[in-house]
Amino acid sequence: MTALITGASTGIGYELAKLFAKDGCGLILVARDRRKLDEVAAEMRKLSGQEVRVIAADLATPSSSEQVFREAGTVDFLVNNAGFGLGGDFAHTDLATELNMIQVNVASLVTLTKLFLIPMSERKRGRILNVASTAAFQPGPLMAVYYASKAFVLSFTEAVAEELRGTGVTVTALCPGPTASEFHTRAKIENTKLIKGKMIGMMTAAKVAEAGYRGMLAGKVVVIPGFLNKLGVQSLRIGPRALVRRAARKLQES
Ligand SMILES: NC(=O)c1ccc[n+]([C@@H]2O[C@H](COP(=O)([O-])OP(=O)(O)OC[C@H]3O[C@@H](n4cnc5c(N)ncnc54)[C@H](OP(=O)(O)O)[C@@H]3O)[C@@H](O)[C@H]2O)c1
Repeated sequence: MTALITGASTGIGYELAKLFAKDGCGLILVARDRRKLDEVAAEMRKLSGQEVRVIAADLATPSSSEQVFREAGTVDFLVNNAGFGLGGDFAHTDLATELNMIQVNVASLVTLTKLFLIPMSERKRGRILNVASTAAFQPGPLMAVYYASKAFVLSFTEAVAEELRGTGVTVTALCPGPTASEFHTRAKIENTKLIKGKMIGMMTAAKVAEAGYRGMLAGKVVVIPGFLNKLGVQSLRIGPRALVRRAARKLQES
């Protein structure tokens, strides 16, 4: 069995790679930083005793998904985990970074899902895990493009999951809340109330990965790790939308 994981060099993707490796699965690790990927690959080889390959690719480049697909060969598990965010009010954030974000978080995820789903459907076997976020359940003032990108991932994954029901292929959306990783520093949101307030009690990437991994193996459509995150999502579903927008803005303020 082989799993391809994007964004496997650190954070949630790295923890997911460990879970596959511990179960004796071969791996293909994708991210931009080849040196870091090589280090992770050496660790995963020791854990799994299986072949571990790396593909250094920038998923912000539109042609990179096809390149990854061509180099990968047969894959039993696809994990679309690579993603990033950007904080700030939309009138002043950098458009080029946001368009790259849409390419990584949305367009590359859709392309990789399509490319790998076709052979999985023919084999009537395969599992896909798409990493969304609890951000998917509400608009995100001061991080507008990121939240919208995750809403896309959730909606897209649920729709394809329904199309695939009973085919032997499953697709799962993992929706973590704030999780300890490099994500917040990279997104320049480490001083927001949401992240500062969560410094104690933020879920570990290992716990989030475990929930996603188990949910994917069980063929679940949506996985929200952690009781408080589940509760938060329920309150978003029943709360008036104007209130939800304002509360989300308050949390994203510094
Ligand atoms: N942390 C959270 O609070 C949180 C909450 C909900 C959802 N999520 C989602 O969980 C996923 C993983 O996040 P994380 O917290 O583990 O973040 P992270 O620690 O910043 O890791 C991100 C991973 O994605 C890779 N990546 C970033 N840009 C890439 C690109 N252009 N091409 C290829 N690979 C790229 C990074 O490697 P390179 O930099 O070497 O490319 C790294 O391996 C993301 O989709 C994120 O949106 C995170």
